[in-house]
Amino acid sequence: MKKIATIILCAMALSLSAQHSEIVKVTTSKLQWFEDAKLGIFIHYGIYAVKGVSESWSFYSGKISKKDYFDQLNSFTAKNYRPDEWAKLFKETGAKYAVLTSKHHDGVALWDTKLNDLSVVKKSPAARDLITPYAQALRNEGLKVGIYFSHLDWSHPDYATVFNANTKQRPASYNIYDFPKSGVEDTVRWNNFVAFRNAQMKEIQELTNPDLWWFDGDWTRNSKQWKMKELRQEILLWNPKTILNSRMMGYGDYATPEQGVPIVGQEGPWELCMTINDSWGFQHNDNNHKSVNYIIRIFADCISMGGNLLLDVGPMEDGTFTQAQIERLKGLGRWTKKHAEAIYGTTRGLPFGHFYGPTTLSKDKKTIYCFVLDIPKDDVVIKGIQNKIKQVRLIGTNETLANKRVGGASWLNIPGVLQVSLPADKLDENVSVVAIDLETPLELYRGNGGAIQNN
Ligand code: GLC
Repeated sequence: MKKIATIILCAMALSLSAQHSEIVKVTTSKLQWFEDAKLGIFIHYGIYAVKGVSESWSFYSGKISKKDYFDQLNSFTAKNYRPDEWAKLFKETGAKYAVLTSKHHDGVALWDTKLNDLSVVKKSPAARDLITPYAQALRNEGLKVGIYFSHLDWSHPDYATVFNANTKQRPASYNIYDFPKSGVEDTVRWNNFVAFRNAQMKEIQELTNPDLWWFDGDWTRNSKQWKMKELRQEILLWNPKTILNSRMMGYGDYATPEQGVPIVGQEGPWELCMTINDSWGFQHNDNNHKSVNYIIRIFADCISMGGNLLLDVGPMEDGTFTQAQIERLKGLGRWTKKHAEAIYGTTRGLPFGHFYGPTTLSKDKKTIYCFVLDIPKDDVVIKGIQNKIKQVRLIGTNETLANKRVGGASWLNIPGVLQVSLPADKLDENVSVVAIDLETPLELYRGNGGAIQNN
């Protein structure tokens, strides 16, 4: 009897773990394209480009009056908006996806929402849906479609109607656009707002069927108030393959550090979003652009630590990019094209200590890619590789590179240091990449050098 019960229990456990691994498999394959993509383009496009003020925040923080802010609607033309040209440019950059602000915190929709009048379609000379042609153009170029959407909406009459349930008091970050003036919770109106958010998302879903929802503005309420769990379920009913960023209070698929380049890559998928200058949207006075070289170095850092880079650009109100932005995108594109092998379809690289710079690894673990950030004074060195080296190459050229092992303690299984000579005249104008092809999948020595008494 006891034996039968044990057999039944084992069978149940087996089937449960099979179910579990099924779930894990589905989730992993859902994120596969994202993890292989490495580079995406973020686009903050909205009425804020007219005066070149910060997106939504400028009226929230009183830098400009609400009236002056929304007056920008009258001059938002999108007259040179050519999403097919955007898509071609993003593809040339080496990006595999893009994310467009369908609605920022100001509440202005870039599509023809039927739920209120606050859209560039009804209220601006642009007078047309901007997100459907964007999605179409990206797909025509084989790029994945990301949609940015702000949970909070500083224009909706029912948004500022509920205190944060955690405090039940006026929060320190009190602002009339976020919280009610009185202490009365109006949950009926809050529920109206959440239904409005969901209904707007449904409209976007039907127009674009996004591959990725990039949420923002979740910080003012808790996940219960936002009904995040239900929202996640709903989105996955619409399309089970959709990927959600982390601004879902624990119900997203990947982490989204912002502006601050991580020092240590987190576990699991992540994406750093970073502006090309200092602003998310277009600002006439912001000429503090990052150099192509700097962007490449940060990009190499991200992929080396298992993440993606989502590089942000802000089109002018007419829908075109400035020359400064185009130059950077194209400069990055020159480099990603030449070094594609070291970027796409690779995984995070070696742990710190083996090479002084970013690295990636081929999926079969038989090639290590070392990103040489500066022109070296001497040979570059890679430490701790146990494997036999097949050859060493300089990516983007036909060069194989002279290399040798120096030192090591074979009786302790400590490999010698690999030294690779780089031909100065063959180096890339930005970052050069050395590929080390191994006979067998990578094995690393991670020890402390051993003790002399073992000699
Ligand atoms: C921040 C900013 C917002 C911007 C976003 C992009 O949340 O507040 O304006 O759109 O970052 O990640």
